[in-house]
Amino acid sequence: MGKGTEGVRPLVAGNWKMNGLKAALGEAAAVQEALAGLQGAIAADVMIAPPATLLMAMAHASGAELLQFAGQDCHAKASGAHTGDISAEMLKDAGASAVIVGHSERRTDHGERDADVLAKALAAHRAGLCAIVCIGETRNERESGQTLAIVARQLAGSLPPGATAANTVIAYEPVWAIGTGLTPTLDDVAEVHDLIRRDLEARFGGEGARMRILYGGSVKPDNAKALMSVPHVNGALIGGASLKASDFIAIVRAYEG
Ligand code: PGA
Repeated sequence: MGKGTEGVRPLVAGNWKMNGLKAALGEAAAVQEALAGLQGAIAADVMIAPPATLLMAMAHASGAELLQFAGQDCHAKASGAHTGDISAEMLKDAGASAVIVGHSERRTDHGERDADVLAKALAAHRAGLCAIVCIGETRNERESGQTLAIVARQLAGSLPPGATAANTVIAYEPVWAIGTGLTPTLDDVAEVHDLIRRDLEARFGGEGARMRILYGGSVKPDNAKALMSVPHVNGALIGGASLKASDFIAIVRAYEG
């Protein structure tokens, strides 16, 4: 187990979103090399979720010892007539060990609701992938004092029965903090993560006590250490700052022992 809060081994995951052509494979290789150079000093799992087009090549080139790989979304079904979609089984086959589900960009751009996210998390479990389930309030919801209610509702609606510490990770990402350079105060992060932990424990008992809860939204090298030291923050989901190996590794080093 790593050093993160509560003895839960943290996870630092980079979400490349719709960024990256073949030339970007070099960034993943640079992350891998840097991790090798750090010789086990990082007390966290490290993961990249590249676009699906790069997943297989990236996983093949890097191996999964130091660096793990994830998809950014999956269909709820294993196969079938769903043009353009990708199943959890396909992601697993391509070298992923996890898949992000319910990212706010999917919820906004594709109208995904909690029930869809739950179905996708179930699909991840069926395929043997860890589901990284994203939740978080909008700016309006925060300003009108609804943050805790929204987060509790999304959590209740998006997590399938059978979720365990091994097969499920929660990513709390305030929508207004994603890609904006804005972050909640550390106290605000602590309040939400504490609520999530209590909800997880109430529903999943000991598994819920050990489920990793990531913070996401404008995590950068200069704020990572402070955010990662908040109680019940067990790692980060990182968008923009994960695209360059040097920035991503600087964030990962928040967990250097
Ligand atoms: P950001 O994105 O780090 O660019 O704010 C986070 C995310 O969407 O996962």
